[in-house]
Order: sequence, then C-alpha cells, then structure tokens
Amino acid sequence: KTTWGECAIVPMNIDFIILAAGKGTRMGGDSPKVLADLAGKPMLQHLVNTVEGFANSKASIIVGYKSKEVEQGIVSSKKLNFVNQSKQLGTAHAVKQSFPFLRKNSVSVVLYGDAPLVSKNTLNRLIKSASQGNLSLLTFIKDDPTGYGRIIRDTKNRIQKITEHKDATSTEKEIREVNSGILAIKTDILLKLMPSIKNNNVSKEYYLTDLVEIAIRNSLPVTATICDPYEVGGANNRQELHDLERLYQKRKGEELLEKGTIIADTSRLDIRGDIKIGKNTFIDINNVFTGNNVLGANVVVGPNCYISNSTIKDGTIIYANTVIESCLVGKDCKLGPFARIRGETELSDGAELGNFVEANRSNIGKRSKAKHLTYLGDAKLGKRVNVGAGTITCNYDGKKKHKTIIEDGTFIGSNSSLVAPLTLGEGSYTGAGSVITKNVPKGKLAVGRGKQVNLTKKK
Ligand code: UD1
Ligand code: CA
Repeated sequence: KTTWGECAIVPMNIDFIILAAGKGTRMGGDSPKVLADLAGKPMLQHLVNTVEGFANSKASIIVGYKSKEVEQGIVSSKKLNFVNQSKQLGTAHAVKQSFPFLRKNSVSVVLYGDAPLVSKNTLNRLIKSASQGNLSLLTFIKDDPTGYGRIIRDTKNRIQKITEHKDATSTEKEIREVNSGILAIKTDILLKLMPSIKNNNVSKEYYLTDLVEIAIRNSLPVTATICDPYEVGGANNRQELHDLERLYQKRKGEELLEKGTIIADTSRLDIRGDIKIGKNTFIDINNVFTGNNVLGANVVVGPNCYISNSTIKDGTIIYANTVIESCLVGKDCKLGPFARIRGETELSDGAELGNFVEANRSNIGKRSKAKHLTYLGDAKLGKRVNVGAGTITCNYDGKKKHKTIIEDGTFIGSNSSLVAPLTLGEGSYTGAGSVITKNVPKGKLAVGRGKQVNLTKKK
C-alpha cells in the first residue's frame, strides 16, 4: 500500500483527462480494452466513478476505437465529455484532444483507461504535488516489466526520463520501476510543454512520457512516487486483468472482514458489483454476488450460491447452491438448498422455500412454506400457507401467464397442480395429487383426482 496518509481535498479546479481510445490489441478480441470487465464493471467505469467524487472537477474521456460502444458502456451521475481521437497516434496525441476543454487555472490529471483502481486519496496527493508546480507521476515496481515504460533515475535517485520498452537499451530493460501512466501537472505548464513532444521513436507515436525529459530540460521539478501496484498497475493483457481481478476480490473480502462480516475464505468469494453487509453475517465458500446486493445482520449464506441484485434481511439462512436474482427476502427466512428464486419475488419474514423449489414473480406471505420440489410462478401466498411437495402452479396456458392466489392458512396437498387463474380461499385444502381448475371457497377441501378402486385380479 502507498505510504501516504489521508489527504485533504485540494481546493483547486481539476481537469481529468482519461485516455480510452486504444483497441488494446494485447487483450485479444475485438472489444475495446477499457470495457474489459473488472469486478462486474468495465475498467473505465471504475475510473469514472472515482473522478465523480472530486469537487470542482471536469472530465474528458478520449475515445476512438469503437467509440460509440465505449460511450454506451459507461454510466455516470455527471454529464461526461467524450472527445474523439480519430487516429490513435499515441498517448500525447490523445491528451492533446482534450485541450479545447481544459481550464487554464486548473491542474490536469491524466488517467489511463487500463489502470482503473487508483484511489481518491492517491489522486489527491498527486494533485497537491502538481498544484505546487511539479510534474507528478505515479510509478510501481514490476518483477517482469516487459512492455512498460522504465523510470530512469540518476545516482541521486532523481527522475531523468521515461524510456518506453521498445526504445530501451538492454541496461534500461533491467529496471523494474515502471510508469503507471498516471500523472498530474498544472494545465498552463502542460499546454506550454506539449508542443515539444515529437514522434521520433521506434513506434512513431507521440509519447506522453516524453513530457518528463522536456520538463527537466525546462528546469521544472518532476516527482515520481512509487505506489502499490494493485492501485496503479492496471492491465494490458488477460493475465494481468486476471491477476488484478483476483487481487481486487481478495482485498474486497478483507475489507468486509474488517467491517465485521465473517468470510470462510477471501480467496473463494467474488463480488462483481456493489454490496452492503450487516454485522455478524457469515459467507461460506464459492459465493458469487453480482450487481447491487444488500445483506442484513446475522445472515448465513451457505456454499456455492449465486446472488444478484437482491436484498436479504437479518437472520435469514440461505443453504447451499441457492440462486437468488432480483428478489427481496425478509427476516428469518430459509432458502434452499438448491432453491431458485427470481423475477422480483418477495418473501415476507419467516417464509421458507426449500430444496428444488423455484419461485418466479411471486409473493410469499409471512411464515408460509414450500419445502420441497415446487414451482410457484405468478403466485401470491398469504400468511402461514403450507405448500406440499411437488406442487405446481400451472401459470402459463401457452399464450398468457395467469395468477394463483392462495389465501392465509391454506394447506396444499402434495403433488397438486393448480391451474391458473385460480383462487384458493382462506383455510382451504387440496387433496394430494389433485388437479385444481376451479376456485376453492374458504375452508373447503378440494379433491380433483380419479377415485381409487381396488380390484381383484383374475386368476
Ligand atoms: C503506456 C505508457 C507506459 C506505461 C504503460 C502502463 C506511454 C507512451 N507509455 O504504455 O510508459 O508503462 O502505459 O500500462 O504513454 N490511448 C489513447 N490514444 C492513443 C494511445 C493510447 O487513448 O493514441 C489510451 C489507451 O486506450 C490506454 C492508454 O491510453 O487506455 C494507454 O495506452 P497503452 O497502449 O495501453 O499504452 P502502453 O503501451 O501500455
Ligand atoms: Ca497500458
């Protein structure tokens, strides 16, 4: 982790320039690299969320390769300024595209769309340093620095220049301190130095990294701070993205532990999106959470569950291999093992859906239970309903979906087929194995099955 402590917000205008125009050939495939998924969000989205948190700030996002796709792939509470770089002639050329939108009295902060996890605190430090007149860079140590720009320092450890891998000598290639790409500089200085950047290098590209040598030639102070590679390292290829994802998940798990969640194994937990978890909640191994999830206190999530965009309230137990998508689960409920609930199904407090039970677009009232092998689709269950094993709501007639209403205290016999639309009145019963096609009045027992006959076999 960086050695920097907390830093107060810098009271200065900030112009973020986010570079996102490249294809990302090393990532493979045709999709723009900056849309590659990290913990359930495009890499670029992480940066957009971070810069949203800065007051007095504006952001220009430089797009080029599949720009429409990039624009559509990003959401923001603020209006985003996408700027087109029609030919990707290098990182300096990309920064130049933002010039019409920069404010002269601001600090410019350059972020690379493929280095998504830089923290607000680190950026604040960087901006503070730049506001004092420095060209300020963030670097990190990489054991295999292949492909990265090397940080060249003199004997007094002062930074001299950045040499790109392709242009580096064999001794320079030995250097393990590499450029993250992230830098900050006062905008008026940036505008003065940029025209000196030329493309006389192996790649024939305009390198933003040449800014370092140019600044030093103009006697401007340059600072380079070595940071946590997790924060500034980013991802150029699938292996790096994989490593970043694993590290992200491990740290997310550790962050939750710190806040009082009990986690069986932080290396076997994936949180792809945002999550809030109450105290003393236990998460067993191999769970995947996607989208926005809220878990209360004292919840138990057994192994191998998939939970997406759902709220689960205090004291609920989710047994192994349960799938919950877009649902609201009340307090002290029991789900699974092997339950699947989806389609905005709501469970009131104390409800239970057991093994091999599926519920879709349904409401399960207080303390109602379906404990085995049941399908509840478009069903509304009142309080204390008991649904026997093998019950099916036949909600679809081939054209339309229909509702099944099961009022308070009803008892559904095992293996009942409830042909919707249908209402089962309060405290009614169905006999096991019945096919129920007509409404059942309050308190009645409905039997809809062939009568048993016991025949004597002819000899
Ligand atoms: C760059 C740095 C290198 C650093 C490395 C960190 C330069 C010259 N080199 O190299 O020192 O170690 O990042 O990963 O800056 N982009 C544009 N327009 C362009 C070119 C790139 O918007 O014309 C964007 C890309 O989409 C990407 C970012 O800039 O988000 C960096 O480009 P990339 O090709 O990944 O640079 P590297 O070769 O990794
Ligand atoms: Ca890169």
